[in-house]
Amino acid sequence: MITTIFRKDRARFLAAAIILFAVSVSAFAAGEEELIRRASQILGPLPSSMPSAENPITPEKVRLGKMLFYEPRVSIDGTVSCSKCHPLALYAADGLRKSVGHNCAENPRNDPTVFNAASQISEHWVGNRTSVEDQAKQAVIGPPAFGMPSYESAEKVLRSYGEYRDLFKAAFPSDPEPVTIDNFAKAIGAFERTLVTPAPFDAFLRGEKGALTAQQIRGLSAFMDQGCAGCHSSPFIGGQIYQKFGLFEPYEKYTKSGKVDDGRFVVTKKEADRRVFKVPVLRNVAMTPPYFHDGSVDKLSDAVWIMGKLQVGKDLPQEQVGDIVAFLRALTGRIPDDVMIVPVLPSLE
Ligand code: HEC
Ligand code: HEC
Repeated sequence: MITTIFRKDRARFLAAAIILFAVSVSAFAAGEEELIRRASQILGPLPSSMPSAENPITPEKVRLGKMLFYEPRVSIDGTVSCSKCHPLALYAADGLRKSVGHNCAENPRNDPTVFNAASQISEHWVGNRTSVEDQAKQAVIGPPAFGMPSYESAEKVLRSYGEYRDLFKAAFPSDPEPVTIDNFAKAIGAFERTLVTPAPFDAFLRGEKGALTAQQIRGLSAFMDQGCAGCHSSPFIGGQIYQKFGLFEPYEKYTKSGKVDDGRFVVTKKEADRRVFKVPVLRNVAMTPPYFHDGSVDKLSDAVWIMGKLQVGKDLPQEQVGDIVAFLRALTGRIPDDVMIVPVLPSLE
């Protein structure tokens, strides 16, 4: 008798436990679905490329652009190429606080990665380049980069290689003189427009089970709840707006250099733009230290905590900083295989 009751109760208890478990699993799944819905609205999955109406992507341009990305001979001392400061082995950022150009000239700011960079409102921290094409063109004569005396001098170098003459012709067949600096910029721009790195976060948005860990999911929630996604928005997790750096406290308190750049003020000369910067893309951010425009912060966890203090006015607890960092690691994407292959550059006949 007693054992029958016990058996009955045990069966009831088991049934209740199973129901409870099922309810909590589905609540968790519903919570996850809701999170995917919100994240898809504010952030969203990475597109397969970053096209432009002015510079359509063609395989010929991409092939040439990739070679030019590695070409040091268009620099004044023959040592500087895009890949020098954006080496793929370091996720296309050089890991220095400030990049070093021709004749060891130091750049005023830290270098961002070129992956997923082409769809931003502008290029550079202060947005003084309108597009990746404009950026590539101006790098040629920019004093801290290639340092060439003129565009003509760079065109002359490129024209001296028969293979480049053929490749420019193939990429720009309707141009009577295809070897120009504008076409140099278009070819590199087309290559950059293919540089997307889909990450576990994109798999999560597609509903792939187990794409993110429980900690990364908590981090994604915090990233949206704390307001980070309000600025670091779009599938690129940034790159879409300018914002003042240091809304709640001045950055001086946290930077080792003690000095703070004037930001977009140097471009617009408007007082309201002092210390305003383009909100950076956070894709692959875990792979591209040091952080901030002056490269003064080495650890991602410190950068996240500082963002909390300066941009959302909160002293984020270390546990939550850890969760957000875990989420940011889920933005580390896969570099496409063909991008990893280093091209052989032409030699003089
Ligand atoms: C001497 C090192 C150096 C060289 C060479 C160099 N870059 Fe950069 N790159 C930088 C630095 C530093 C920045 C940030 C500049 C700033 O914001 O003031 C940058 C910014 C960029 C950006 C903007 C990214 C963003 O998120 O705003 C792109 C795109 C880029 N470089 C592509 C290139 C290409 C293409 C070349 C070759 C034509 C090139 N770079 C050559 C150092 C370099
Ligand atoms: C009000 C807009 C705004 C908000 C909110 C915001 N950020 Fe930022 N974030 C920026 C700007 C602007 C920068 C560039 C700062 C600079 O000039 O170096 C930046 C830079 C960063 C960087 C450094 C990127 C790099 O490559 O150096 C990280 C990491 C970052 N933010 C994470 C976060 C996190 C996490 C949150 C939420 C706690 C957050 N941000 C909230 C605007 C914002």
